Amino acid sequence: MKNFKDKIAVVTGAGSGIGTALAEELAKKGAVLVLTDKNAETLSETESSVRSLGADCYTYVVDVADELAIQSFCEEVIKQLGHIDLLFNNAGFALGKISLKDLHMEDFHKLVDVNLWGVINHTKAFLEVLLHRPESAIINISSVFGIIGVADQVPYCTTKFAVRGFTEALRMELMDTNVEVYCVHPGGINTNIYRNAVHYDKSALVDEKFQKMLERTSPEQAAKVILKGIERKKEKILIGMDAEIIDRLARTMPVAYTAIAKKVFDYNSR
Ligand SMILES: NC(=O)c1ccc[n+]([C@@H]2O[C@H](COP(=O)([O-])OP(=O)(O)OC[C@H]3O[C@@H](n4cnc5c(N)ncnc54)[C@H](O)[C@@H]3O)[C@@H](O)[C@H]2O)c1
Repeated sequence: MKNFKDKIAVVTGAGSGIGTALAEELAKKGAVLVLTDKNAETLSETESSVRSLGADCYTYVVDVADELAIQSFCEEVIKQLGHIDLLFNNAGFALGKISLKDLHMEDFHKLVDVNLWGVINHTKAFLEVLLHRPESAIINISSVFGIIGVADQVPYCTTKFAVRGFTEALRMELMDTNVEVYCVHPGGINTNIYRNAVHYDKSALVDEKFQKMLERTSPEQAAKVILKGIERKKEKILIGMDAEIIDRLARTMPVAYTAIAKKVFDYNSR
């Protein structure tokens, strides 16, 4: 997609982090914003910010785990605006560091509902409309944890690998249509996701420097990389040097990477 001017873009999880930054960057590029989040307060802060940048903006409080709510949101948007051009499936959360042995299965289910079913249900709800646009795009936010599997992140990795599988399969299915399909793999981005994690344990972060290293890219930088990737039709988007390294590691050492990654990510045993 060459530019975003007057394109209608849906961004889920727009109340914080990468979603807010995406909304602001899209506003600067002349897009019309349809923003959703489950948090009405932070969503309205993003709305004020994009309006101050001169963008038209519509907001909806939607829980992406709620299939019926997504369906009525989609119907409402189409009734009001007629169509959309871009769908950013961004909303997501993390459980934090927890072993499968200690995990409550309801947390695993909730994560799948949000991080995976949210992506699937939005895509299904808007697909017909996107197929009728002259050029359109679906942009799904996976993670570097959709490229490598990491201990104590089994549920998160499960959802992010699944988002990648869903996205890559759909890309082939839509190859001869006008719908471009992007999979985004951010490395560590400095957002609220770590602090909002269900099992966020401050005491586990003994190594502040290590945590800073994990969060080395700002959400604004991440949003710029995503939009540039779409402008250049780079359908696999890696964000940050950490993501580049992890991707290369997984491709060159598809099994042996586990031992190397254990040294980096298992910070309790460092
Ligand atoms: N921050 C990182 O290091 C990083 C790395 C890789 C991938 N990601 C992915 O990027 C995406 C954005 O994360 P972020 O870092 O900006 O996090 P964030 O916590 O700053 O923002 C996430 C937003 O999603 C919203 N949200 C969460 N659950 C929701 C639900 N059920 N319904 C509607 N909205 C919901 C939250 O309210 C919040 O506004 C997520 O999919 C995340 O998994 C983040």
